[in-house]
Amino acid sequence: MDMNSATSHFKDRFGYSPAHIIRAPGRVNLLGEHVDYNDGLVLPAAIDRATYIAFSPSSTNHSTIMAVDFDQQAVFSLEELSTKTQSNGSPLPEWAHYPAGVMWALREAGLTTPAMDAVFLSNVPRGSGLSSSASVEMAFALAWQTLGGWTRSPLERALLGQKAENHYVGVHCGIMDQFASACGEANKALMLDCRSLEYRALPLPESVALVVADTTIRRKLTSGEYNNRRNACEETVKLLKEHLPGIASLRDVSLEDFDRLADTLPPELERRSRHVVEEIGRVNQSQSWLDAGDLQRFGQLMNQCHISLRDLYEVSIPELDAMVEIAQDLRGCYGARLTGAGFGGCTINLVEREQAGEFVERLANGYESKTGLRPEIYVCRASDGARLL
Ligand code: GLA
Repeated sequence: MDMNSATSHFKDRFGYSPAHIIRAPGRVNLLGEHVDYNDGLVLPAAIDRATYIAFSPSSTNHSTIMAVDFDQQAVFSLEELSTKTQSNGSPLPEWAHYPAGVMWALREAGLTTPAMDAVFLSNVPRGSGLSSSASVEMAFALAWQTLGGWTRSPLERALLGQKAENHYVGVHCGIMDQFASACGEANKALMLDCRSLEYRALPLPESVALVVADTTIRRKLTSGEYNNRRNACEETVKLLKEHLPGIASLRDVSLEDFDRLADTLPPELERRSRHVVEEIGRVNQSQSWLDAGDLQRFGQLMNQCHISLRDLYEVSIPELDAMVEIAQDLRGCYGARLTGAGFGGCTINLVEREQAGEFVERLANGYESKTGLRPEIYVCRASDGARLL
């Protein structure tokens, strides 16, 4: 499942060799969950699981895009973008909203999107919290840049991908996933300030492995629940503004002010926003632990983050909790928590590399005996962002 496979599927489908191949990775997030859309700090890393797209300019004015993983194709042009239909009038399949959304966002920004023949496939599991959709968006944004002859920075392409997701797909996500897929760096995590969009790359110690454990439960109703959480944060800002007129987002609320005003909020909004305010505090704190190479303390922040996502933000599920609890008791594990939006999907575990083999085996067995489900567990490396190969 890689570049060769993308090439051979392209040849099978179109009968000639593709002009270009792009790889765009998924991501994990180490800390700073559900804070990107509150202007907070996040700490994602791109991973060595990715979407591959093989493509060439098309001789027609329709883009023909084949999704190998769905064994389906979609054919569309600029004219059909607003109606989300294909050139034959049938609705675009859901997976095609990502490339079509990217085309829409690029056109809105005045960029050209020449018609292409393309096949894409991915080994980022879908709906698992590893940002398979952002990886598809970043692959297509770079593909159209390659054919269009314009240049935007990786960060600018990430913002265009977020716009596609917000306004075309309809998920009001923050910038973290597209940012990580576009700007990732090998062996590094990226500390991104989601307000200023400044970031710095933090080397991950060689001695530590990023272990991703997939509960195999797929998120349901994600966009609805996700958008609800985001609305709750916005609602809280409105209420808190009566007391703190200067705030623009939860990022601007100190823990002291929050504690003082917590009683004025409806209980559900209090829980949601307490998670955000405290989580932003944890990411701030984590910088000094990471700079000092103190993985023990960093891992404790990850563990606290999970409890907060479970009890305050309420985006965990029993299988994620089981995976995290088992992991936290295993040798070599610094910290474990759910990663991404939640409601299913994966946990991220920071594990002593030498212990990773034993950790994976014990976690898989422990999870299976507790839930009856066999998990998928990957020992990942932080990887580079979207690139032409
Ligand atoms: C999803 C969104 C991100 C972010 C996370 C939660 O992955 O796409 O923008 O909000 O959830 O941290």
